[in-house]
Amino acid sequence: MNTVKKRILSGITPSGDGSLHIGNYLGAVRQFVELSKNNECFLFVADIHALTTIQRKDELRANIETLILNELALLGDLSNIIFFRQSDVPMHTELQTILNNITPLGLIKRAHAYKDKLEKGVEEEEVNMGLFSYPVLMAADILMYKPDLVPVGRDQKQHIEITRDIAERFNRTFKSKIFPLPEPYIPEEAAVIMGTDGKRKMSKSLGNFISIFEDEAVIKKQVMSTYTDPTRKHVTDPGHIEGNMVFNYLDFFTEKEEVMMYKEKYRQGKVADVEVKNYLFESLMKYFAPARMRYEELKNSPDSVKKIIQTGAERAREVAEKTINEVRATIGLTNKYSF
Ligand code: ADP
Ligand code: TRP
Repeated sequence: MNTVKKRILSGITPSGDGSLHIGNYLGAVRQFVELSKNNECFLFVADIHALTTIQRKDELRANIETLILNELALLGDLSNIIFFRQSDVPMHTELQTILNNITPLGLIKRAHAYKDKLEKGVEEEEVNMGLFSYPVLMAADILMYKPDLVPVGRDQKQHIEITRDIAERFNRTFKSKIFPLPEPYIPEEAAVIMGTDGKRKMSKSLGNFISIFEDEAVIKKQVMSTYTDPTRKHVTDPGHIEGNMVFNYLDFFTEKEEVMMYKEKYRQGKVADVEVKNYLFESLMKYFAPARMRYEELKNSPDSVKKIIQTGAERAREVAEKTINEVRATIGLTNKYSF
């Protein structure tokens, strides 16, 4: 077994309402938790990124607080994880400004977030520079910590490619080797989790998600409205498993043998949709019980959360300062009057 520790980095934007759904968990957080067992990890709340869309103070504040609690509750053991807020490490934006100068306009114009807006008919006048230069800030977030792997959902893959491109350009332009090229880490089975509508990727903005920390009644309702097999009219009709979102989720959250049994019964028309949905609901409650408990504990102890954030910021800043000093020296900002 390879015992060399890798450096892992990821971030999540406190968009939507800051809460995480099972798509976020399966697509991003779960890999992170797995990797954190044997590696050195950095995980941050990308609060500056959120400013591209959230410009109401109370909303941003609440989102950041919610995301912090959601992430900490899901992570559990923080012994190998440096957890921090992007805005607590101002070097990110300094590095972004520096990287802006070696980033071609064309490269950023091809980024999905911006291109999609234009394709949807949004006027350039309505796209702010924060959204446009989002990939450069993300490159700065990543390169600052020189990670080996960046676990994200597939929708973020292009951003990692842009980051690699920017790192290469930087190294080439300044004849340096400062930035190793990071690899995206996107396990195939969790690359895109489809939503409860069975049609589009699970996403906050599409309302087709299943929550993790909501009240049981809310989660139950989300589960009950999940897309199954539209051709099945009666319990006795043989059902289809393929494209059936309930079974899709069950595969992730339950024992293999037990799901196999349900699948078999479903195919034979021997189990009702509502029964399988109840099984999914129970399975989710069981799977997330420890995290849901931690969530309540954390919510009731703001001082201990603050301490985690503070320690994380200090440790992240140490690494960031080292990188930024290297960068300053490499590009010529450091001179004989520097101190
Ligand atoms: P949302 O689309 O719900 O707003 P975000 O864009 O904030 O989610 O994503 C946060 C993290 O979760 C990212 O790493 C993203 O790739 C991952 N992610 C989001 N939705 C999914 C999904 N449906 N399947 C897999 N991963 C996802
Ligand atoms: N753009 C990512 C998202 O929307 C969040 C993010 C910001 C990020 N900076 C990052 C992810 C650096 C990985 C690495 O989810």
